[in-house]
Amino acid sequence: MKTLFDTKPGSARFSAFWMTAILLLGGCSQSASDIPEEDPSERRPGGDTTHSLVPFPAFDHIAPNLPDERKADFYAGRALAEQPWVKAPTITTARDGLGPVYNARACLACHIRGGKGRLPDDNKSPLFNAFVRVSLPAAPGQTVNPAIGVIPEPVYGDQLQSQSIALDHQLRTASPEAISARGDVAPEAYIYINWQTHIFTYPDKHQTELRKPQLDIRHLGYGPLHPHTLFSLRNAPTIHGMGLLELIDQQDINQWQDPDDRNHDGISGRVNNVWDARQQKTVAGRFGLKANRPDMHMVVASAFANDVGISNPLFSSQPCTANQPACMAQPDGEDDHGFEMPQELFELVVDFSRNLAVPQRRDADDWAVQQGRELFYRNGCQLCHRPSYTTVADAENPHLSAQKIWPYTDLLLHDMGDELADNRPDFDASGREWRTAPLWGVGLLASVNGSNNLLHDGRARSVEEAILWHGGEAEQAKQNFIHLSRSEREALVRFVNSL
Ligand code: HEC
Ligand code: HEC
Repeated sequence: MKTLFDTKPGSARFSAFWMTAILLLGGCSQSASDIPEEDPSERRPGGDTTHSLVPFPAFDHIAPNLPDERKADFYAGRALAEQPWVKAPTITTARDGLGPVYNARACLACHIRGGKGRLPDDNKSPLFNAFVRVSLPAAPGQTVNPAIGVIPEPVYGDQLQSQSIALDHQLRTASPEAISARGDVAPEAYIYINWQTHIFTYPDKHQTELRKPQLDIRHLGYGPLHPHTLFSLRNAPTIHGMGLLELIDQQDINQWQDPDDRNHDGISGRVNNVWDARQQKTVAGRFGLKANRPDMHMVVASAFANDVGISNPLFSSQPCTANQPACMAQPDGEDDHGFEMPQELFELVVDFSRNLAVPQRRDADDWAVQQGRELFYRNGCQLCHRPSYTTVADAENPHLSAQKIWPYTDLLLHDMGDELADNRPDFDASGREWRTAPLWGVGLLASVNGSNNLLHDGRARSVEEAILWHGGEAEQAKQNFIHLSRSEREALVRFVNSL
């Protein structure tokens, strides 16, 4: 598809100038041919996996086209993702091995009903559905461990686990420091957020409040963090449509890469190169907020190992470092193969994660939504939020194959500017880069589980706030947005919320 950005010769600034001028002049618009005609498949963004979600909005509905004979496996996988894991040893060997340190006892405790996590609105309750990744900057000449893509903090590793199996932590009768002093396994820290707010004023003088999180890490259980520690607060994303995103041809993603911005549209886009423990090599990433995982096997395996503390065929160690002896000394829930979760059960959760239905569009015929659709394309949102793909054939998953899908993401990394930067590299992703968030279902977040936490760290409470935080490669798109009239901005937001 050709866009104004692609066709203008000369500098990015030149085309950006015209873009803004055209928008400010109103009447004179980009030629209609640049805005693709509506395709009937847009109404069903997940192809045949699309679900009306009536009567119960959730992102963990079974894909309606999953063959009947596979439904029992899906529900078994769901049980493993939903029911809490317990401390080892127990008589229920299939469900023990929790921790010794962990963030939550079950996948769906964070991805509530398959949706995003919720962040606390004040600093009175600690983080639960989001977590903090940590690491150290590479010293000159130092190479990063290729399997984890970062240099871990020497004591705490690469993720802060804020829960532990110690009974007096569970009962909140002792602090992590006290538990640790007693020689028992302590949570690594309790994490709170102080929100810093400021008022944003549009060129038309309309105002809206924005907020940015500042981490408040209390009660470190294993002594002070290294003074150069880098932090990345990450909220749990939605988990619907994963099997479809997995079946996008890598060539279809690579075609949008433009690391040197040769087309001068101000937007580059890069693939992250990440570790695949199954193939034992570095491959292209597409899942996770910095595209730090290649496929559902790696996502689910790393989540079990790090978030729940369940070792598995791909990540066989406990979430402790050698500098946490009390953690290392805990009994594990290992089976004969040396894992807390055997291959067959692990595959059931991978299968569950692949087969969650994508919601049907809402309000697509609404006049404001139609207007918002045009504005989405005219303002350059689609240059990163790439609307659609056709999935490749997968003999094991014919129901996910050859589906025309509408996720609105290029699955690439973009420099999003200083304000969104976490300054923590993750494999090849820099501290300023994030993967373009898919937009399908974004309008349903609050009705699914009450989460109104958009962007990687959950700071945005609405689509409007999310757009206002865009910077870096997305600066021009944001500028275009803020220079629209108020009713046009509302229309664009309504379109995004209808996806
Ligand atoms: C403590 C909260 C928490 C728990 C528990 C948790 N997750 Fe996540 N999940 C996250 C966060 C945060 C991310 C983003 C991680 C990143 O970008 O590094 C994520 C990412 C994902 C993704 C990738 C989504 C995308 O858009 O690329 C999937 C799929 C997923 N988790 C599934 C699972 C499964 C399955 C489990 C259970 C084994 C699980 N999660 C447990 C918080 C959690
Ligand atoms: C340069 C690429 C780029 C452009 C252009 C861009 N975005 Fe984004 N968008 C991103 C990235 C990357 C993220 C994730 C940022 C993060 O998590 O901090 C994102 C996140 C979002 C989110 C939050 C979604 C969620 O689930 O958290 C919304 C909403 C959004 N964009 C809408 C828009 C709209 C509307 C436009 C056009 C005005 C636009 N974006 C233009 C790259 C872009």
